[in-house]
Amino acid sequence: MAAGGLRVLIPEERIQARVRELGAEITRDYPEGPIFLVAILKGACFFLADLARAIQGPVRIDFIGISSYGCRKSTSGEVKLTKDLDSSIEGADVLIVEDIVDTGVTLNYLLHVLAQRNPRSLRVAALLDKPSRRVLAVDVAYVGFEIPNAFVVGYGLDYAEQYRNLRDICVLEESG
Ligand code: IMP
Ligand code: MG
Repeated sequence: MAAGGLRVLIPEERIQARVRELGAEITRDYPEGPIFLVAILKGACFFLADLARAIQGPVRIDFIGISSYGCRKSTSGEVKLTKDLDSSIEGADVLIVEDIVDTGVTLNYLLHVLAQRNPRSLRVAALLDKPSRRVLAVDVAYVGFEIPNAFVVGYGLDYAEQYRNLRDICVLEESG
């Protein structure tokens, strides 16, 4: 894909308002705390930073790295851990924080890996969801926005490591 122009899909104000709503909902759902937030590097870092501050009450944060082999767009893409958590999640209420659910391959893998470590609970919060692209079903407890099948960048999401620092979520339109 040749990178073309950027078109704002979700402006900063809508992102921030929705993240505040998700934070309030999560706060209500976990009255006991602490919530162990596990962010998937690198795209989810911006969402994590805002979501953690939208949650009232104790949270812990940690990071996990995942990379996919071969063609990013292939539906049967294998995934592997590139950076593990720093601490144990045994007995913890774990909430995986992800930027976007696309085919579902990444989250299926991660849910499987983390479930084996005996957390007390294990759920997913994803800022964006592209349901039309799903290959493997995944139960996402908290979704910020459902979006159409377009490649998006900004607010942590990249194209070839670019655009992560855009404040809005934008569609990267193909040139030519
Ligand atoms: P999945 O395993 O296909 O669900 O892929 C999820 C990962 O693919 C996300 O964590 C992103 O890193 C990447 N991804 C999927 N769609 C997009 C997009 O539109 N823009 C940027 N990254 C994306
Ligand atoms: Mg990602």
